Amino acid sequence: MIKMIPEGKKWFSPSLKMVICIPSGITEVEMRAVKESAERVNGKEVYLIHEPMAAAIGIGVDIMQPKGNMIVDIGGGTTEIAVIALGGIVCDKSVKVAGDVFTNDIVYYMRTQHNLYVGDRTAEKIKIQIGAATEDLDNPPEDMSVQGRDLLTGKPKQVQISFREIAKALDKSILRIEDSVMETLSQTPPELAADIYNTGIYLAGGGSMLRGLDKRLSKKTDLPVYIAEDPLRAVVRGTGITLKNLEKFKGVLIK
Ligand SMILES: Nc1ncnc2c1ncn2[C@@H]1O[C@H](COP(=O)(O)OP(=O)(O)OP(=O)(O)O)[C@@H](O)[C@H]1O
Ligand SMILES: [Mg+2]
Repeated sequence: MIKMIPEGKKWFSPSLKMVICIPSGITEVEMRAVKESAERVNGKEVYLIHEPMAAAIGIGVDIMQPKGNMIVDIGGGTTEIAVIALGGIVCDKSVKVAGDVFTNDIVYYMRTQHNLYVGDRTAEKIKIQIGAATEDLDNPPEDMSVQGRDLLTGKPKQVQISFREIAKALDKSILRIEDSVMETLSQTPPELAADIYNTGIYLAGGGSMLRGLDKRLSKKTDLPVYIAEDPLRAVVRGTGITLKNLEKFKGVLIK
């Protein structure tokens, strides 16, 4: 990707300043691999930043304040939960339940409840069109026709699916995310927990767009829950902001 950036005037190769976001659960070895890859493509000043921190910055949270904020980033592979204060991650948790698991849950549900074999792409489409985290939605989506292959006859088949069914299919996975959020809250130092009581929880990542997930989390935690504006890009937006304000964010970057 970096090699694709047009170089402009060719007589000397540009030295690049980079900020790269990394999952908070990354190992030292992986971190070094990211850094070395960047240096190999002319990164002269390379900084790393943890994704929940980048998400917080991208959402517009003032991370330098002596105040606790909770970020829940529900991506494709992992859900990262972090409490941030004074420019640092105070406690965090990473669970391997996120958007891709939701998609798999739908494939499994269609197979076991409707004898219908659907692929990942269809399942993701179902998730985005009628997916829900709860049956108690304010604006429920209309039923969806889903085509796939009948597992018994082998013939193509179509069934009507409602959001309620998908809510049932996803229930167990969402419960695991809920439990992880509760666990992280219970490990949060009391002063910061008091802050979160006032500021609420911020959601980011594509998985946070699942209908009713904010409402369900809010009910479980008794806290206000906000979905970031453009949640798919919160992390990359935050990473970009730190690159443009390196001096200000030096403390949160990993050199
Ligand atoms: N409207 C939507 N409703 C529900 N899920 C969605 C929606 N749009 C995208 N997703 C899901 O969001 C996930 C991708 O989110 P995101 O781009 O934040 O993940 P990622 O950062 O690539 O993954 P990770 O953080 O785990 O490395 C996919 O599983 C996708 O199906
Ligand atoms: Mg992500």
